[in-house]
Amino acid sequence: MGTLKDTLSLYAGVVRRVGYTLTVGLGNAQERNRLLALYQVYAQPTTLEDPTPDDPHILPKTDILELLKNDEAVYEGVNECGFGHTTEFELKVISNLVRMKQPKRIFEIGTFQGRTTLNMALNSPADAQIVTLDLPGSELDNTQMKIAVGEARYVKKDRSGERFLEHPLRSKIQQVFGDSATFDFSPYKASMDLIFIDASHAYEYVLNDTQKALEMIRPGGIILWHDYTNWEGVRNALNELYQKNPSCRNLRHIGGTSIALLQL
Ligand SMILES: C[S@@+](CC[C@H](N)C(=O)[O-])C[C@H]1O[C@@H](n2cnc3c(N)ncnc32)[C@H](O)[C@@H]1O
Repeated sequence: MGTLKDTLSLYAGVVRRVGYTLTVGLGNAQERNRLLALYQVYAQPTTLEDPTPDDPHILPKTDILELLKNDEAVYEGVNECGFGHTTEFELKVISNLVRMKQPKRIFEIGTFQGRTTLNMALNSPADAQIVTLDLPGSELDNTQMKIAVGEARYVKKDRSGERFLEHPLRSKIQQVFGDSATFDFSPYKASMDLIFIDASHAYEYVLNDTQKALEMIRPGGIILWHDYTNWEGVRNALNELYQKNPSCRNLRHIGGTSIALLQL
């Protein structure tokens, strides 16, 4: 019933805004911008799984226009995506959320090249601090739980965070290293405004990282997960958390992306 209500209100919201935008709104620059944003959402390449009656993605969808107004973020390397990265559109969604919410304390689990880290640094307040945790390549075979098949390529790399290491905003970013299953997150307890979970996609790791994020997030903060529609382990873990963990009942899937979002 909740799902039907969510779906109906999602479509009612879209119809209302599209109707306004295509009539009164066309004369207004701000509304033209919203139209562009709407186009970008629904014109995404269909590499992401499309919903079907048997769609295993049970999280209610949130309308991107409910979250964001215009594309006001700034970017670096937004087109330079590929294996292990967020898509161009996903990076824009995350950057705009950061731009809008202005989080001062951000934690990322899973650095890789640091493309998302850098873009969060570009869009957060000047005095924001971003902590990004990565598994050192040397620890690939020593993780407490099993990482997923196919993930070794993201762990083994010459330089973790190469996108921001020489960047002027480097001072906003603190790199920490370890296995998210054994890393000591206690210094960050209940202090983070925004957390981005994008490390191992194995089911047990997503549950572990979510638990750690729930301990680190402050009331009113936001947790984002990447790859809800791309990795089975992420999907199963988030579906289960949505159904069984009362702290996660507001989990939503951002339409047109693989990102899941929880506003505490
Ligand atoms: C998909 S990449 C992250 C992409 C990055 N967040 C971005 O948006 O560009 C996954 C990263 O998680 C790291 N990782 C994998 N398992 C981990 C673990 N158990 N603890 C910490 N980091 C882990 C990998 O080393 C890799 O850098």
